[in-house]
Amino acid sequence: MTYDARFRVWRGDATGGDLQDFTVQVNEGEVVLDIIHRLQATQAGDLAVRWNCKAGKCGSCSAEINGRPRLMCMTRMGTFGEDETVTVTPLRTFPVIRDLVTDVSYNYDKAAQIPAFTPRARDGDGNHRMQQVDVERSQEFRKCIECYLCQDTCHVIRDHEGNKAAFAGPRFLIRLAELDMHPLDVVDRRAAAQDEFGLGYCNITKCCSEVCPEGIHLTDNGIIPLKERVVDRRYDPLTWLGSVIRRR
Ligand code: SF4
Ligand code: F3S
Ligand code: FES
Repeated sequence: MTYDARFRVWRGDATGGDLQDFTVQVNEGEVVLDIIHRLQATQAGDLAVRWNCKAGKCGSCSAEINGRPRLMCMTRMGTFGEDETVTVTPLRTFPVIRDLVTDVSYNYDKAAQIPAFTPRARDGDGNHRMQQVDVERSQEFRKCIECYLCQDTCHVIRDHEGNKAAFAGPRFLIRLAELDMHPLDVVDRRAAAQDEFGLGYCNITKCCSEVCPEGIHLTDNGIIPLKERVVDRRYDPLTWLGSVIRRR
């Protein structure tokens, strides 16, 4: 079954741009990225779009479709009515380079600032050991494909550009949570999570978890437990005494 869909695509660059209307053929089973490719092939040869795997695994084809942050390669055209206009715009939280391509280097900068995994010494027999439950806990966060849809969605930076310096965003708060929960890691990242990566800015709206294509429970399994660990540290009497003594 084939039909003609109405597509509205943002075209422009850092200096400005606008939505442009197209009518494009759609075949059964196609996804939004197929239509964007057909648009490139038939009507807009210079349309800039970032993609790689077309399988929901590289995290490159993130965009906003009818205002919702989604992967273009995982959004079936069947999601929309045949008479519905499908609007595709670049991620709003990051600066536009051209058309649907944004500059996501904010995320790379935040990633580079997080203290790396630092394992304790190996056991006497040369092995590292950890419980299966700990492996499974961090495995959920390791599914992240770095599509940055959660970063794009979070209102702390989406609506407040000025917060970017102080707030790492949900993807990197769960990276901190993963490392902080890791039984082999010896670095305490709780103070940094609060003071350098802006954990306190998160008011648990859970929008990040709603858009994650990997189904990671960022808020319930990462951010809230990290907040609890930070509070435990702050109100632990021994930690408090230690910080008072250090301040003298
Ligand atoms: Fe994408 Fe989910 Fe990773 Fe965020 S946590 S970057 S939404 S895969
Ligand atoms: Fe933002 Fe997610 Fe917190 S959307 S406010 S990081 S729960
Ligand atoms: Fe790789 Fe969409 S092209 S996730």
